[in-house]
Amino acid sequence: MDLPFEPYRIKVVERVPLISRERRLELLQAAGFNVFKLPSEAITIDLLTDSGTSAMSDKQWAALMTGDEAYACSRSFDDFADTVRALFGFKHVIPTHQGRAAEGILFAVTLGRNSVVPNNIHFDTTRANVEHLGAIALDCVVDEGLDPDLELPFKGNMSLTKLGAAWEKYGPERIPFVMLTITNNSGGGQPVSMANIREVSDFCREHRVPLIFDACRFAENAYFIKMREHGYSERSIEEIVKETFSLGDGCTMSAKKDALVNIGGFLCLNRDDWAEDATNLLILREGFPTYGGMAGRDLAAIAQGLREVQDFEYLRYRIGQVARFGQELQERGVPILKPVGGHATYIDAKTALPHIPQGQFPAQVFTAALYLEAGVRGVEIGSLMFEHCDPDTGELVNPAMELVRLAVPRRVYTHTQLAYVAEAAARVVASGRQLRGLEIEWEPPALRHFTARLRPVGGGDFIAADSSA
Ligand SMILES: Cc1ncc(COP(=O)(O)O)c(C=O)c1O
Repeated sequence: MDLPFEPYRIKVVERVPLISRERRLELLQAAGFNVFKLPSEAITIDLLTDSGTSAMSDKQWAALMTGDEAYACSRSFDDFADTVRALFGFKHVIPTHQGRAAEGILFAVTLGRNSVVPNNIHFDTTRANVEHLGAIALDCVVDEGLDPDLELPFKGNMSLTKLGAAWEKYGPERIPFVMLTITNNSGGGQPVSMANIREVSDFCREHRVPLIFDACRFAENAYFIKMREHGYSERSIEEIVKETFSLGDGCTMSAKKDALVNIGGFLCLNRDDWAEDATNLLILREGFPTYGGMAGRDLAAIAQGLREVQDFEYLRYRIGQVARFGQELQERGVPILKPVGGHATYIDAKTALPHIPQGQFPAQVFTAALYLEAGVRGVEIGSLMFEHCDPDTGELVNPAMELVRLAVPRRVYTHTQLAYVAEAAARVVASGRQLRGLEIEWEPPALRHFTARLRPVGGGDFIAADSSA
């Protein structure tokens, strides 16, 4: 695979922190083996998330300077709303400070305690926002999407069988809408095909239930459709994006991903009654309907970012860089989820650390070890994040996969820096048997992965003195 060509040049640089292994160990212990609590000055390469970590373009920085900060009906809002409408095609555009605020507002006006929301896989904040209202967040991804070794083009697809079964079981009284996350972050950043979007849309239209996209990575999903789906190679990204959204009735959007900004989000809806209720709640929680928790300059940067993200050359570099990173990991013997996702590569921690049982958080162990090894921060997407209660049996259920997500910020790191990460991950795999499992020392009632404290099982050192541990 050729090195992906960066279709930009660098204008501003930021010094990367380099600190000693001894200091990293001290910081890891002080953070309760939770990398969310590490100071960013102690991170050499930060792959915790691709959310809000993009480098903005010169045009976006220029747009910030021209942002209109009027409280009501600013010029920046008009430009933002026109851009979103032209691109997404939905009737109502409601700005929010980030994606989860859009989710929280939509769910508050549509869900009751009995409700059920099917999705391919709910992202953690989406699941938490649904469950916070006492409703059920149901994952309906195709079975292939849960097998880390299967090389298939669209592992983010929703299973129509699972969706149909959910409809049979809960019916229209309990399912107010269906969601589809493009690309499917929690299932490995895997795309959803246009054929699948159309099937889900047909199902929803037949049953008169709205389809709402979780649209964070809509442009990356469109790129995969263009490159992988029969009949789309000659279609432009803009055309594919328009077709995608024409099949739904609204979306939640975190602008921190495919709008290439550091903060922002929005909710789009076609239904007037939902939009009215959402706008009333927006005023209560976020702000006036023409800024919704953002500054005018943020709206201006989002509008510019949404125009830039559809550039084919940008997307080719973006997806190519992540794919190349995955290849570097594989060539060094690090087991990864296949195929490589759009915004991240995911290390398969069950395979990398087979001696650590799922109850001892193998993906969190790998995440901590990677920081210790090279100052690289990834994030656990496994039992720490997703253990949950089965709504029918009340039993605790672990997710099928234990993944370490290495999310690549947009337009930020070079190939050399990602090769450094791949080498470090290979050293963790090679010395993996020395690593001890982790147990919870303290956890909050919801979204525990953000703030929980962990410790090596039974106390003692994180790295055992001999490999028989
Ligand atoms: C698929 C998906 N949905 C929703 C969100 C929430 O967005 P935000 O972090 O802006 O609240 C994220 C964030 O990572 C995401 O990846």
